[in-house]
Amino acid sequence: MKLAVLNGPNLNLLGSREPEIYGTTTLADIESRLRSVARELGVEISFAQTNHEGALIDEIQGLRGNADGVIINAGAYSHTSLAIRDALSAVAIPYVEVHLSNIFAREPERRHSTLAAGATAVLCGFGAYGYELALRGLVARLASRG
Ligand code: DQA
Repeated sequence: MKLAVLNGPNLNLLGSREPEIYGTTTLADIESRLRSVARELGVEISFAQTNHEGALIDEIQGLRGNADGVIINAGAYSHTSLAIRDALSAVAIPYVEVHLSNIFAREPERRHSTLAAGATAVLCGFGAYGYELALRGLVARLASRG
């Protein structure tokens, strides 16, 4: 089983970016933890982060036939980008949407996600741990489908 973890704009700054909201764990820390959970679960995992909407779409398109599941935190594009939602629908790979913060407890403009309606699951508010929960949940879901 192959999983891809995609992170969008500003998530490269995790660790130093608004730590009171996003915590102090870096993206490298998150990826390293996910690598070891993937090893434990016996699945392959790949990572990409970009600050650019089109580049994120290119990454998603490139996963067609190359990934069984996606974990995506599209950052602020989650609230605005129909194009990212369309790319996820086009490749038809099950995805889990992750946010470190509880977007429903934040400003009104963050309380809607363009991606959520097509997601297998949405996890928000668990900080960096949310990525691990998403990985474990997605692997269990995909395994149960056989
Ligand atoms: C975020 C929430 C978004 O509203 C914000 O724009 C981000 C991070 C999160 O992980 O909590 O960049 O996706």
